Amino acid sequence: MNARIIVMDFGSQYAHLIARRVRDLGVFSSVVSNELSADDIRANFPDIRGIILSGGPDDVVDPAAPQCDKNIFELNVPVLGLCYGHHIISHYLGGKVSLGAGREYGITKLKVAKKDSILKGFDKAEAVWMNHGNSVTAPPPGFEVAARTGNCIAVIQNKRKNIYGVQFHPEVTHTKKGKVLFSNFVFDICSAKKDWSMERFIGDKIKKIKRQVGNRRAIIGLSGGVDSSVAAILMSRAIGKNLTAVFVDTGFMRLGEPEFIRDTFTHWDMKLKMVDARKKFYDALRGIVDPEQKRKIIGRLFIRIFDEVALDKKAEILVQGTIYPDRIESGTSKNASVIKSHHNVGGLPKNMTLELCEPLEDLYKDEVRAVAKKLGLPDELALRHPFPGPGLAIRILGECTRKNVKIVQKANYIVLDELEKADEYNSIWQAFAVLLPVKSVGVQGDARSYKRVIAIRFVNSVDAMSASFSKVPYSLLEKISTRITNEIKEVNRVVYDITNKPPGTIEWE
Ligand code: XMP
Repeated sequence: MNARIIVMDFGSQYAHLIARRVRDLGVFSSVVSNELSADDIRANFPDIRGIILSGGPDDVVDPAAPQCDKNIFELNVPVLGLCYGHHIISHYLGGKVSLGAGREYGITKLKVAKKDSILKGFDKAEAVWMNHGNSVTAPPPGFEVAARTGNCIAVIQNKRKNIYGVQFHPEVTHTKKGKVLFSNFVFDICSAKKDWSMERFIGDKIKKIKRQVGNRRAIIGLSGGVDSSVAAILMSRAIGKNLTAVFVDTGFMRLGEPEFIRDTFTHWDMKLKMVDARKKFYDALRGIVDPEQKRKIIGRLFIRIFDEVALDKKAEILVQGTIYPDRIESGTSKNASVIKSHHNVGGLPKNMTLELCEPLEDLYKDEVRAVAKKLGLPDELALRHPFPGPGLAIRILGECTRKNVKIVQKANYIVLDELEKADEYNSIWQAFAVLLPVKSVGVQGDARSYKRVIAIRFVNSVDAMSASFSKVPYSLLEKISTRITNEIKEVNRVVYDITNKPPGTIEWE
C-alpha cells in the first residue's frame, strides 16, 4: 500500500496545492476535512505517514473557527502545521497566538536559527511568502524556535514528538526553498518512500475499481474531453465488457465531434453507444435564453437519456470524469450538489438510483493528462482544451437555434484551426468563440451590412479556478477575424475578450 500524507483542510485556498506538492515528490497525498477524528484517521488511513495542517483565514482563538481533534497529536505520526496549522499547534499544545501581532504579507526575510531538521538545506536568510495577521508569540512547552522574521516566530519544532509549525507558505512558489521543506518533512521526518507515480496510480485505481464494481455493469458519458476519456479507459481496463461508453450528441458539440469520438474510441476495445439526441435538445431549448435555465434543461435531459441507457444495459453504476478542481469549485462537500449542476455534465438528481464511481476525483488536469499519456491516448485527445458539459449552448448568448449553432461551430473551428497553424494550441488553456445576441453595422463589398458579432476568448489558467486572458499576437487575432468575417456570412464583426477570471468566468454563460 502506498505511503500517504494527508492534508487537513482548515479552509485554505492552498490545501489542494499542498497535496499536489507532496505528490510531485513521488508520495501520495490527499486532502481531508478538519473534522476527521484521530480514530477516523487511524481507521481510514492505515498507510498514513504524516499529517499536514493547512492554512486558513480564521482566528484560531475564535470558538467558531475550524478546529480539529487534539488527539491527532497522539497518533505517533509527524505533524506539520502551515500558517493557521502553525497556530493550531501552538494554541492546542500550550503556546500563545496573538491576534493582529506581526502582520506580514508577501515576500519576507526568514532568519534561520536551526538548520538541522525541517529547515535542513536552508541558508541563514531565506525569502519566504507570508500571508498572516495573527502570530505565534510564545511556542508551546517542549518546542524550540527554529526561525524568525523581523515580526514573528516563523518556525517552531518539537523534534522528539515530530511536530513542526511554519508561519510561511512553502507550497507557494515565491518561497524559494518550499520544495526543500516539503522534502525534509516527507522523506526525513515521515520516512515516506517515493512510491507514487502515474503507473502506480493506474495499477492501484484499476484494483480499486474492480473492488467497487465487482461483476456489475457501468455506463460512462463521453464528452470528447480528456477527463471522461481517461476515466472510460481506466474503467474499461478494470471491468472490460461490463462498461458501456455513451456519447450523447446534443447538437451542441464541436464541428465533426461524433465522427471524432467514433474514430478515437473504436481503437479501444470498448462498447460504444452513440445516441443522436439533437432533436430532443433543440426542442427542449426552443425559446430559452436564460443561461441557468439552459443548463438545467440540458442537465435534466442528459440524465433522462443516461437513465434510459442504464436501464437498457442493466447498469447499476454511473462513472464520471470528475477531477479535483471540479470538487474544489464546489466549495465544501456540504455544497457539492449545488455546483454539480453547474460543472458536471447535467448535474445529478437527488434520488439517483445509479451508484457513482469517480476514478479521477483526486487528480488535477495536468495529472489526468499525464495518466492519458501513460494509457496511450493520442495527444490530440490528451492535450485537448476543456469543453463544457452543456457545450455550445452556453456559447450562444440568446436562443440556441440550429442556425446559431452552425455559426458558433464554424467560428470555433476557425479559432482552433488558426491556433494550431500558429503552433500555439498547447500554450493556451482554452480557446473558443462566443456568438453574441447583438448585431452591428459594417461595410462589406462596398455595401452596408448589419450582422452578428463573434467574441473570441483565449485564456491561460492552471486549474480553471482563476484565469487570465491570453496576450496572443495581434497577427493571429487578425487572421482569425478575417477568416470569420469572410467565411461566415452572418458575421461582420469580431471582438477579443480581455477579461480575467475573476471577475469574469471563462465561459460567458
Ligand atoms: P467557468 O466558466 O466556470 O469555467 O469559469 C471553468 C471551466 O469549466 C468549464 N465548464 C464546464 N465544464 N460542465 C463542464 O464539464 C459545465 O457545466 C461547465 N461550465 C464550465 C469551462 O469550459 C472552463 O474550462
